This record gives sequence, C-alpha cells and structure tokens, in this order.
Amino acid sequence: MRILLIGFMGAGKSSVGRVLARLSGFRFIDLDARIEAEEGLDVRAIFQKHGEPYFRRKEARALQAVLQEDGVVIASGGGVVTSEEARALIEPLPYTVYLEASFDTIKARLLNDTRRPLWRSHARANDLYLERVPLYEALAKYRVTTDGRVPREVALEILNTIGLTRKNGNHAR
Ligand code: S3P
Repeated sequence: MRILLIGFMGAGKSSVGRVLARLSGFRFIDLDARIEAEEGLDVRAIFQKHGEPYFRRKEARALQAVLQEDGVVIASGGGVVTSEEARALIEPLPYTVYLEASFDTIKARLLNDTRRPLWRSHARANDLYLERVPLYEALAKYRVTTDGRVPREVALEILNTIGLTRKNGNHAR
C-alpha cells in the first residue's frame, strides 16, 4: 500500500506525511529529498543549473521508483501534477490524498520561504495555484483540508478516511 500526498506548496505534505507514517507504521518518503539526494543538489540549485523541465523529468522518474515500494507514505512536490508523465502514474493510484489549503493559508505558511524556486511573487504563485487546484482535485481519491489545523489532526483524518488503523504514534505530535 502506498499513500501519496499531493497539494500546493505549503499545504503540509511533508509534515503531515511524517506524522501519518508514524501513526500508520508506514515509511515516510519525501520525493523532493529523494531527488536532491540523487542529484547531489537542492531543489533550488537543480532549477538554477538545469531548469524546471529537467526537474520535472527527474521528479516523474523518482515518483515511478518510489511507487515500487510498499508500505509507504509519499509526500510529493506541489508541481508533480504538471507533468503528464507523473499524472499518468498518479491516475490509477487508490490512495492519493489532496491536502487542501487556501491561498491565504499558504501565504502565511511560506512567509519567509526562500527555498522554493517557484515561490517568488504572490501574483505568479496565485496563478500557479489556480492552474493546479483542478489537477489536484481530478487526481485525488480523497481530499482533506489543512486550513487552521495542525499536521496531527490532518493525519488522523486521513487514517480515518481511508480506513487504516493506528499502529503506533502515541508520541506523535
Ligand atoms: C514545487 C514545489 C516544491 C518543489 C519545487 C517545485 C512546485 O515542493 O518540488 O520547489 O512546482 O510547486 P513543495 O510542494 O514541497 O514545496
């Protein structure tokens, strides 16, 4: 079983994913971190050195590789849905969860962010948000809101919604 978390930058995919993995006993995989490890560069540097299309190809391949693993919670990058190759991989998955957040929530969460190459002007980011929301909605089998909620609340709702029992995580925050 593989649970894939999708949603915009700042939706909480990595923080919710970590808690969800702890609660379910699954392993947590962060797709950006995988790509960074493979490339030996952080996401920002990959964008700078090779450009976005290169990153998207690596991202789709990394997704394909991690989908071979079992018992995992995968936090994807917010732009994974923009590549056709990645969308084709996501479409048949039974446990894709869209973490929803309003654009105001995202702005507040990413207030001091300098890591994300596509988080520059709010206007441009808002355009991306509007383009991508329909893709998240179309690809996800489940949808959970994160506005005003801490990762643990969101993770527990995911567990409940997909009917997984808690394996551990008494110490999960
Ligand atoms: C991106 C989101 C980032 C990262 C890269 C591109 C995007 O991941 O993959 O900066 O296009 O939305 P997060 O969603 O974890 O910020």
